[in-house]
Amino acid sequence: MATDEKSQSDLEAELQSLLEQERFDPPEEFVRQALVSDDSLHRRADEDPNGFWLEQARELDWFTEPSESLDDSNPPFYRWFADGKINASHNCLDRHVEAGNGDRVAFHWRGEQGEEEDWTYADLLRDTQKLANGLKERGIGREDVVGIFLPMIPEVVIAMLACARIGAVHNVVFGGFSPESVSERMKVSEAKALVTVDGARRKGKTAEVKSTVDEERIGDLDHMETLVVVKRTGADCPMTEGRDVWYHELLEAADDECPAEELDAEHPLFILYTSGSTASPKGILHTTGGYLTGVAHTTRLVFDLKPEEDVYWCSADVGWVTGHSYIVYGPMACGATSVMWEGAPDYPDKDAWWAVCERYGVTILYTAPTAIRAAMKWGVEYPERRDLSSLRLLGTVGEPINPKAWAWYHTVIGGRRAPVVDTWWQTETGAIMISPLPALTPTKPGSATKPLPGIEAAVLDEDGSEIEEGQGYLVLKRPWPAMLRTLYGDDDRFVETYFEKFGRETYLVGDAARKDEDGYFWIVGRIDDVINVSGHRMSTAEIESAIVSYEHVAESAVIGQEDEDSGQAVTAFVTLEGGAEPDDELEGSIREHVAQRIGKLARPKRIIWADDLPKTRSGKIMRRLLRDIAEGREAGDVSTLREPGVMDDLAEQVRQRGDGGDE
Ligand code: WT7
Repeated sequence: MATDEKSQSDLEAELQSLLEQERFDPPEEFVRQALVSDDSLHRRADEDPNGFWLEQARELDWFTEPSESLDDSNPPFYRWFADGKINASHNCLDRHVEAGNGDRVAFHWRGEQGEEEDWTYADLLRDTQKLANGLKERGIGREDVVGIFLPMIPEVVIAMLACARIGAVHNVVFGGFSPESVSERMKVSEAKALVTVDGARRKGKTAEVKSTVDEERIGDLDHMETLVVVKRTGADCPMTEGRDVWYHELLEAADDECPAEELDAEHPLFILYTSGSTASPKGILHTTGGYLTGVAHTTRLVFDLKPEEDVYWCSADVGWVTGHSYIVYGPMACGATSVMWEGAPDYPDKDAWWAVCERYGVTILYTAPTAIRAAMKWGVEYPERRDLSSLRLLGTVGEPINPKAWAWYHTVIGGRRAPVVDTWWQTETGAIMISPLPALTPTKPGSATKPLPGIEAAVLDEDGSEIEEGQGYLVLKRPWPAMLRTLYGDDDRFVETYFEKFGRETYLVGDAARKDEDGYFWIVGRIDDVINVSGHRMSTAEIESAIVSYEHVAESAVIGQEDEDSGQAVTAFVTLEGGAEPDDELEGSIREHVAQRIGKLARPKRIIWADDLPKTRSGKIMRRLLRDIAEGREAGDVSTLREPGVMDDLAEQVRQRGDGGDE
C-alpha cells in the first residue's frame, strides 16, 4: 500500500511537471516512420482546395471516376464528385478481396465473455452479399430506409454494408437507446425494415431486446415490413409469422452473389439521428462519395494508418458517428485490421481494455476523454498489469480533454512515445476537421490544434467578423466532401440550423471556440441547448419533455452541470403541480422514467426541486443562472428576470437539501 501511494504521488508530480511544458513536439521516432511528415498536403490544399479533394476522392475505387469536384451552384446544398459512380460496400470489401487481401483480418472481434472470432474481409464480403440478397428478396431497394438496432457484434457491420451495397439507407440507433427512441426514429424516417437482436449482453447479464421492440410495437409502424433478428443470447423471442425473420435463416436461404450497385456519388448512404436544440432529434443525412472520401482520407492522415502493419482500435460504439466513420467506413475503406469489442472497460476487471490492447498488439487506440478519466481514477495498477508497448498513436474525441487526462494518457498508456491526436468533429461534419497531424503538428494539451488540409475553420463574433485571437462562434468557411447534405426530410431546418446566422456559405458549428496566438483552436463548449455527457450529445429539450410527461411534474429545466467523470452531467430542476410533494421515491421514478423514454445516458444524475424557475420577461428559462446555482456559484446578472426573487428561493432550497440528489 505504502509503495502504491508513493508511486501514485510520483506519478502526480511527473504529470504536473510534464504539463509545465506547454507544447509537445511529435516524438522523433514516430516522425521517422510516418506517412505524412511535411506540409505539402497543406500547400496543395491551400492553392487548389477543389483539386486537392478530387485527388483524395480518386484514392477510392470508382465505377466511373468523377471529373467534377465541388458543385456550389445552390448553397448550402452542396454536391461533391457528382458525376462519379461508386459503392461504399464495394470499397470496404470487394476492393480488398480483389487485391488479394481477402484473408486479411478486418475485425478481431472479442465478445463480452472473452469469446474471440476473427473476421476476414472475405468472410464479411460473403455474409454481406447474402444479407443484401435477403433484404432485396424482402423488397428493399435503393433509397429505402433500414433501421439497425444491434450491439457490438460483427452483424452490425454486415448490416450496414449490406444496405450500402444495394443503395438502401441505414439508420443505426445506438444499442443503449430505449425502444421508444428506436420507434420514434423508425417512424420519422419511414423505415421499411429493422435489423435487431434477440438479446444483448452487458457485464455478464443478458437483456431482452426483440421482445422490448415488440412491446413498443415497432413492427406495426406504418412503413415497417420486416424485422430481421440476429440470434445472440437465446433470449425469449416471439417471432411474427411473415414479418419477422431470423438473420441466420435469411442468410442460409439467400444467394451467394450480390454485385454492388453502381450508385451516384450523391446517393444517400445513411441517416444518423443526433440531438439538437429542440426535443425532436435531427436526422443527419450523409451521401456516398464525399463521405467516404472524407473518412478514408482522414483515417490515413490523422491515424497514420498502415493497413499491412497496424492493429487499430476505436473503442466507440457503432451506433454513434465515431463508430460509423472510424470503426466501419474509414478503416474498412483503407483495408485496416481493427479490433471490435463488445464489452465494458471494467468487466471482468478494470484492466479489460488493456488486456485487449495486449492480446491483439493494438498499435492505434482511439477513445474518449471520459474513458481516460475513468481509467485514471481506477489507477495505474491496471494498465501496468499489461504490456502496452505496441501502442504507437493515441487519439481522443467527443469533448475537450482536460490537460491532466491528456498527460496521463500520453505517459501511462502511450509511454511518451505515442503522439496524442485530439480530434474535433461532429456527426454533421462526417469526418475529422480539426486535429494535429501526428508527425507534424506540435500539440498543446486541451487543444485540437488546427484544421486539417482543405478545411477552413474560423472564430467569428456576433456580427460575423473574424476574431484572430479570442473567443467566439466556431464556423467552417468552406464546404468539405464529408459534410451533411441536409436534415432528413427537413431542408428548412437544415438551412435554419447551420446556414442562417452567418449566411449560406458559412457553416455554423454550434460550438464556441477560442483561437490563441499561434492560431490553435480550443473548443469551449456548445452554444445551443445541447449538453455533452461522456462525449455523447443530449438535448436538454428532449430530456425536459420526457420529465414533464411524468405525472405530477409541472415544469422542468435541464442543464449540463460540470462533472468530474462525465464532463457534464444531467441536472434537472423540477417543479411539481400543486399538492404534490417531492420525495426520494418520486425522484427515483422520474429518473427511471427518463431512462425508459430516452436511454440511460439521459437519466438525470441530480434532481433539484424548485418552486419556480428563473425566466426572462418573454418567458425563456435562464439556464445560465441555473448552472450557477447547481455548481454552487453566486448567481450572475439577474436583472432581466421577470421575478428576480426566484433566485434567492432556489438558492435557499438547494442549501436546505445539501448536495441535492447526487448519487
Ligand atoms: C460535439 C459533436 C465527433 C464524434 C463524437 C461526437 C464535441 C467532439 C471534440 C473535441 C472538444 C469535441 C463538440 C461537437 N466535441 N470532439 N475533440 N474537443 N469538443 O459527435 O455527437 O456529433 O458531437 O462534440 O461540442 O460539436 P457528436
